[in-house]
Amino acid sequence: MTRRIALVCCIAIAALALGGCRGSIKKKAPLHPQLNMDQVNRFEAQEPNDFFSDNRANRRWPEGTVRSADPRGDVSPCALPEANPHLCSGVNAKDGSFATTLPDEVTLDAALLDRGQERYDIFCAPCHDRVGAADGMVARRGMKPITFHNDIVRGREVGKLFDTISNGGAIMPGYATQMPTTDRWAVAAYVRALQISQYASDDVANGAK
Ligand code: HEC
Repeated sequence: MTRRIALVCCIAIAALALGGCRGSIKKKAPLHPQLNMDQVNRFEAQEPNDFFSDNRANRRWPEGTVRSADPRGDVSPCALPEANPHLCSGVNAKDGSFATTLPDEVTLDAALLDRGQERYDIFCAPCHDRVGAADGMVARRGMKPITFHNDIVRGREVGKLFDTISNGGAIMPGYATQMPTTDRWAVAAYVRALQISQYASDDVANGAK
């Protein structure tokens, strides 16, 4: 009998202890063992900031900023489910093999190669160097890419070059989030131009293919 009374008392005390806190307001901050960056001083989006003359905490990107991952996502036609495989992935729609030509949407002209050269020198030359001989500043300090001028890379389809630029390689990072689709094609065309440049002969100079 006494055991039963003891048991009932225990249950009652436990119920009070567990239920008693409901609705009470704590003054102290809850225990927060993993601080991360939850409590640092910071400005929320749209919050005013007296430091700047226009009082806005949100700043505009400085002119010429190189685009990183775009938080608004890829708004190009390649973001659509019915995306064109040649333009967006460098592959033939028929069998998924790498395309050997530029997509219809991209015209091979001097402007395309100029754009490709400009983007290549920014994004690729740090590792691959300006001519693609794998002797960029990063390569000299450790991460060694491969030259574009060996038979393997010279034999790659232009669609495969586009795929490498978009998705990266074994250790090379991909650039799909940083470079719009047409810029990636411009760089692929420029890489091909670099390859041709290293094997130029009188025939090429005279206009032969
Ligand atoms: C951080 C250094 C780095 C940067 C920047 C870089 N690459 Fe690479 N790339 C590599 C490395 C390392 C390899 C060889 C291993 C691999 O495939 O990951 C490579 C391989 C390649 C290949 C050969 C892939 C194959 O086997 O067919 C191509 C083509 C290429 N890169 C093009 C580019 C282009 C174009 C850019 C600029 C958009 C670029 N890379 C930027 C490091 C880099």
